[in-house]
Amino acid sequence: MESFIPTTIQLSYLGATALFFLGLKKLGSPATARQGNTLAAGGMLIAVVATLLDLQVVNYPMIGGAIALGSIIGVIAAKKVAMTDMPQMVGLLNGLGGAASALVAIAEFYRLLGEGNVPLNATITAILGSLIGGITFTGSAIAFAKLQGLITGKPVSLPGQQIINIFLFASFIAGSGLLLFNPLNTVAFLAITAIALVLGLFLVLPIGGGDMPVVISLLNSLSGLAASAAGFVVMNNVLIIAGALVGASGLILTEIMCKGMNRSLPNVLFSAFGATAAGGGGGATADGGDKSVHKIDAEEGAMMLGYARSVVIVPGYGMAVAQAQHSVRELADQLEKKGVDVKYAIHPVAGRMPGHMNVLLAEANVSYGQLHDMDDINPEFERTDVALVIGANDVVNPDAKTDSSSPIYGMPILEVDKAKNTIVIKRSLKPGYAGIDNNLFYRDNTMMYFGSAKEAVGQLVSEVKQL
Ligand code: TAP
Repeated sequence: MESFIPTTIQLSYLGATALFFLGLKKLGSPATARQGNTLAAGGMLIAVVATLLDLQVVNYPMIGGAIALGSIIGVIAAKKVAMTDMPQMVGLLNGLGGAASALVAIAEFYRLLGEGNVPLNATITAILGSLIGGITFTGSAIAFAKLQGLITGKPVSLPGQQIINIFLFASFIAGSGLLLFNPLNTVAFLAITAIALVLGLFLVLPIGGGDMPVVISLLNSLSGLAASAAGFVVMNNVLIIAGALVGASGLILTEIMCKGMNRSLPNVLFSAFGATAAGGGGGATADGGDKSVHKIDAEEGAMMLGYARSVVIVPGYGMAVAQAQHSVRELADQLEKKGVDVKYAIHPVAGRMPGHMNVLLAEANVSYGQLHDMDDINPEFERTDVALVIGANDVVNPDAKTDSSSPIYGMPILEVDKAKNTIVIKRSLKPGYAGIDNNLFYRDNTMMYFGSAKEAVGQLVSEVKQL
């Protein structure tokens, strides 16, 4: 029995790890993503049950109570949270993951301290656990508060913030040095943990609310690394591996988002982008100044769409805010009934979180085969009769290709300006996230259909039905 249980636990960890890998692989495509999620969750269940078999577990009722309480809160939160609030929910969960890892590091450090001997490897992992876990916890709390509107979304910083951060980081290194020299120095351990918590605040407060999704993805990666560090602290293989997987995938996601915005990670973290622009309403005027636009109503829009051979729908943040995805699906169904070829073009950073549009359209049961990535669909716009832009702005702004002074110059865009006609649905000429005007709106072949996405698309559906 003594050797049977540890072997069973390690074998279960191996099985759980295989399910994590399989799950991640399947998350790579929208068609298999749900299955991937279930597989990875199954792996986590196996890992948790196997860990509970460990003979070192001393208090089952306490663990059972915590699991029950956590499950109740988790189910209620997951059911209640709106799709548009998902980034802050992920932020909150990352923060709690970071805090849990830091607490594991602290608890293990104190346990070894009680035994009067803290080995070097345990000291190193405790230092890493408190650094990464502490920064992740407070950084994620700020990201959550910004996105939830509990504090201002604007960049906030103290005078000389970078120097203060460098000083704090240097103090952390000095404290860690003291601790490595004398692991029984609890004051040094508490001090470096406090510094890590303050660093998390000071690193995220100066970043604009609009950049929070990138920050959350980075913190997600850090929470994985913190879990991995905690895994080394308690010598748990599956925690080390699962943490490393979260760390790596979070980094890849961060890089994809930065690439989609044509910005570097240091630019996102240190440029205070959004001091004047984030959330829209920046430099551009709401009425386009002297420039004129072609306005259309639902009837004209329906005629253009209903008699087209091909329509490419480009959803953006406005569709998410208006929760118009079901009406959009209905419109596509009506058009297809009339023989129109309908496709959806998905920009990697449309909306405010990775995969935002994919998730919303999947919720409305749009078939995955109709969703096309930017690189696949861009060559098709020239052959497209109507590009229908619904609540998207920056991701279709042609200035990104032509105006080297534009803040989004170089960002890859969906080239709707190449379609024979473009219909843009939005409420006004106000800018989007980048806070800049969009020349697409003033082109001869662009028709502006002003209105909130859900109602506007709903009216198009009624009009198309009458054609
Ligand atoms: P945006 O450029 O932000 O434009 C959204 C547009 O939606 C606005 O111009 C707004 O115009 C319109 N809108 C708002 N509410 C609406 C409603 N109820 N009905 C209809 N329209 C509505 O969106 P995008 O094109 O999706 O681009 C995303 C931006 O976010 C990019 O700049 C990207 O870099 C940035 N960003 C994305 C991510 C991720 S991971 N997706 C992360 C960080 C930053 P009106 O006010 O006139 O209606």
